[in-house]
Amino acid sequence: MAGLLVLAGVFWGLCILSAALLRWNEVKYRKTGLPPGTMGWPVFGETTEFLKQGPGFMKNQRSRYGNFFKSHILGCPTVVSMDPELNRYILVNEAKGLVPGYPQSMLDILGKCNIAAVHGSAHKYMRGALLALISPTMIKEHLLPKIDDFMRSHLSDWDSKMAFLSSLRQIASNEANSIAQDFMPEFFKLVLGTLSLPINLPNTNYHRGFQARRNITSLLRKLVEDRQASGETQYDMLGYLLHKENKYKLSDEEMIDLIITILYSGYETISTTSMMAVKYLHDHPKVLEELRKEHMAIREKKETEDPIDYNDYKSMRFTRAVIYETSRLATIVNGVLRKTTTDMEINGYVIPKGWRIYVYTREVNYDPRLYPDPLKFNPWRWMEKGLENQHQFLIFGGGTRQCPGKELGLAEISTFLHYFVLKYKWEEVGGDKLMKFPRVEAPNGLRIKISTH
Ligand code: HEM
Repeated sequence: MAGLLVLAGVFWGLCILSAALLRWNEVKYRKTGLPPGTMGWPVFGETTEFLKQGPGFMKNQRSRYGNFFKSHILGCPTVVSMDPELNRYILVNEAKGLVPGYPQSMLDILGKCNIAAVHGSAHKYMRGALLALISPTMIKEHLLPKIDDFMRSHLSDWDSKMAFLSSLRQIASNEANSIAQDFMPEFFKLVLGTLSLPINLPNTNYHRGFQARRNITSLLRKLVEDRQASGETQYDMLGYLLHKENKYKLSDEEMIDLIITILYSGYETISTTSMMAVKYLHDHPKVLEELRKEHMAIREKKETEDPIDYNDYKSMRFTRAVIYETSRLATIVNGVLRKTTTDMEINGYVIPKGWRIYVYTREVNYDPRLYPDPLKFNPWRWMEKGLENQHQFLIFGGGTRQCPGKELGLAEISTFLHYFVLKYKWEEVGGDKLMKFPRVEAPNGLRIKISTH
């Protein structure tokens, strides 16, 4: 009996303590001028609910507090903006002090010269250097041929690693094969590190990510030195970066951070979009038929071994529509992060200096006013003029930080789809999390197995 009483006492004590902590945390942030919303627990905020419920958490808070609310997630007081007009405003106003607000672990591990870590003129310079590497001319003359060649030989085992390898080939064509073995495991450790809490203790993902960055840096440094020593000009991204006539003169450190950024930004977005496109095409045979028609028409004008060229890529209108519709429906990127550098008035509220703003773009993708019947996979909606130029089209972000890799990403996924839909049939087995595509006989006798999760 006494034991039960003690247990009940402890239970009630914990309840009262929890309520007091929650209340204390709410009061702490009850400054006038802040948007509505809840702040959850001290330090942890509402991170657990946010991570557990994902988009459900956002929807729930929006139904209670509207399109602009405060919360405390991933270690920071945060304002979530789901209003399309406001989102646009935030993205185009970096000069007013709304700078990228990515987590410290990401900035630490991607390097201090990486694009997300730099602002103002430094950002302009690094972005210019990157855009020069992936300009339409570079895609046309150097990158697309490499992508085409890569897709032909790696199509049958395409997965997220392949997206990484394809990018590595674009960066360092001749060395990619020899360094991939050492590079790849380090790269995946680095990625995990950027998504972890910045606690530098042995055996934490952050610590491992940091070590991986060190190993990758020395691998890339050696690559740069070997290239410089050889004096040969090579027609890949590294060759262009080192070229005497390149007007962007980057230090070795900047070059290394830029290469890491390219690999980091492209690999997951491209592989997830490709895999989701394959899934949607499987589920929508009419779309697949239309897509095949487009690619067969391109092939009919070519010999079997002829590569895809830039004009072919530009003519793939329906393919582009399929990629946009996939990105919209699967919402490859839920939103982007910004932070305030001074106290700022936004939407009639005062957002304190150092707060994060989560520009949440996901919901716009399902807005029936923009996309009638929004849950339907309907690429034809993108064939109408203008949809991709609308203000609310934020699949690739917006403003000064809009994705510079958009065309490169589209070219890569389009080339993948070209060979994939022409060479293979596929089917899906398994539950909703793990989609497995069993080996199937392709028309040309090739076999394919793909998995994603
Ligand atoms: C389907 C593929 C892709 C999607 C959906 C995508 C999406 C995005 C989005 C939403 C942003 C905005 C981030 C922000 O505002 O903070 C962004 C930025 C960026 N993306 Fe992409 N991306 C894709 C492919 C690529 C590729 C292939 C590259 C490789 C070069 C790349 C490089 C970058 C870089 C460097 C930035 C930062 C730009 C800056 O801060 O100025 N992306 N991307």
